[in-house]
Amino acid sequence: HRHLLGIEGLHPHEILGLLDRAEEAVEVSRQIHKRKHVLAGRTQINLFFENSTRTQSSFELAGKRLGADVMNMAVSQSSVKKGETLIDTAATLNAMHPDLLVVRHHAAGAVHLLARKVSCSVVNAGDGPHEHPTQALLDALTIRRHKGKIARLTVAICGDIAHSRVARSNIILLNALGARVRVIAPSTLLPSGIGQMGAEVFTSMKEGLAGADIVMMLRLQRERMNGAFVPSVREYYRYYGLDAEKLAYANEDALVMHPGPMNRGVEIDASIADGAQSLIREQVEMGVAVRMAVLEALAANLPNN
Ligand code: CP
Repeated sequence: HRHLLGIEGLHPHEILGLLDRAEEAVEVSRQIHKRKHVLAGRTQINLFFENSTRTQSSFELAGKRLGADVMNMAVSQSSVKKGETLIDTAATLNAMHPDLLVVRHHAAGAVHLLARKVSCSVVNAGDGPHEHPTQALLDALTIRRHKGKIARLTVAICGDIAHSRVARSNIILLNALGARVRVIAPSTLLPSGIGQMGAEVFTSMKEGLAGADIVMMLRLQRERMNGAFVPSVREYYRYYGLDAEKLAYANEDALVMHPGPMNRGVEIDASIADGAQSLIREQVEMGVAVRMAVLEALAANLPNN
């Protein structure tokens, strides 16, 4: 592939190939000299129209660990603020001959559109509620390192499914690798058509968590709700916030995940986020490794390689 725009369209063997490559990148990242040179002389531009802590910094580190020259485009200080469009911004950057463009945008499909307008490789770092492919890959890597497999595990994805690109990419990837996927949410936070996406749907944490191997919590994305959030945050925490009592419904050796950013006391209790079953910090470490794997895989298809 020239781009990574989503998990949709990837074959299971391609997903597994990226996870295997990422395992090697974990080792590189843990060495004192954390460098490979597959992107030496290449230019990577990170273009984030939405805020990010984990994704942007890990793409920057991943590019640097592979030897690329990495530029972070400061969108808030750019001419986007003067009305320049996404396509004109991309065409402007494209004229500077980058090899890789890593893009996050608030509109679903924006990254696909942009990929058709530029001559470099494009990586989707999250497009609205559509896809966040590297998040799903890092989640799969984290799960596989602890459970030894993905197939036949029961994974419960809980919370704001309606607005979540993380949920969408994870449902596609986990199904491709043979997991049993569940979603748990109040009906107001379930997207239409969720039944056709390959996930069993629950509105009760008690029922949905029974027998779960992995409990993946999501943030309430109030910035995508236009003020119309039902139930209230207090009710939400009571019925859907992951605390010790609700986690006890899952398997005894269940592991807890969250893509971040977390809202402690809204979707997850601090004692669980920091507890023995939590993989949240490890997900961040795997984020760098997965992004190295993706950039390295795309490097093989860059011109003159
Ligand atoms: N998980 C995730 O995408 O986090 P950021 O928004 O901080 O990049």
